[in-house]
Amino acid sequence: MAADTTNVLTLEHEILPVLTQRRSPRAYADQPVPAEALQQVFAAASSASSCFGEQPWRFLVGNRATSAEAYDKILASLAEFNQAWAKAAPVLVVSVAKTTFSHDGNANAWATHDVGQAVATLAVQGAELGLQIHQMAGFSADKVRAAFGVPEDYAPVAVFTLGYPGDPAGLPDALREREMAPRVRKPLAEFVFEGGWPQPEGERYDQAPV
Ligand SMILES: Cc1cc2nc3c(=O)[nH]c(=O)nc-3n(C[C@H](O)[C@H](O)[C@H](O)COP(=O)(O)O)c2cc1C
Repeated sequence: MAADTTNVLTLEHEILPVLTQRRSPRAYADQPVPAEALQQVFAAASSASSCFGEQPWRFLVGNRATSAEAYDKILASLAEFNQAWAKAAPVLVVSVAKTTFSHDGNANAWATHDVGQAVATLAVQGAELGLQIHQMAGFSADKVRAAFGVPEDYAPVAVFTLGYPGDPAGLPDALREREMAPRVRKPLAEFVFEGGWPQPEGERYDQAPV
C-alpha cells in the first residue's frame, strides 16, 4: 500500500520520511487489514526495548473482519466523542501493561513507558505499510477490564484504531478541519536542555548568546 501523504509533518530539521507521514487520522477507508500486515505491526512493537527486557506490553485486538465481538466490546469502552469516528476503523486495539516484573514480582514503574515505546514503534511500521493508528486516552479501562477479564496485575493503557486512512472529505465539518489543520510541534529549544535545566533568563539550546 502506498505511503499516506495527507497532512505530512514539516519540521525545522530533516527526519525519516516515514516519521513525517505518521499521523492520527479520524477518517478510515472501508478496507480490511491483511493478516500479514497485522502480524508485521505487532512484530514491530515487539522490537522495542524495555526495562529488564520485560516486554510488558499486551495487545487486545478486535478485528471487525475476524473478531467482531471483541471489536464491539472495545468500541463500547470508548468515550462517545471517540466512538463517533473510531467506528470507521477496521481494527481496534487496547494496549495493556503488565505492571509487575516477572523476575521478582516488584512493581514495574517503567511499564507504561515501555508500552508507549512499543506502540510508537508499531505506529511507524504501520505508516511504512500505508496504515495509520490513532491512539485514545478517552476510554474506560474499567469497561475493558470487565469485558475481557483483564487480570489485576495488568492495566489497560490506551486504545488505538488501526487501518488504511480514508478521505477526510467524508468527515463531519469539525473533524475534517482538525484532520487537515496544520500540524505544529514545539521548537527544540522548548524541550531540549543541554547542560542543565533552563533558567528564566538562561541561554537556550538553539539560541546564540546575545
Ligand atoms: C496517549 C494518547 C492519548 C490520546 N487520546 C486521544 C483521544 O482520546 N481522542 C483523540 O481524538 N485523540 C487522542 N490522541 C491523539 C492526539 O491528539 C494526537 O496524537 C496529537 O494531536 C498529535 O497528532 P498526530 O498524532 O497526528 O501527530 C491521543 C494520543 C495519545 C498519544
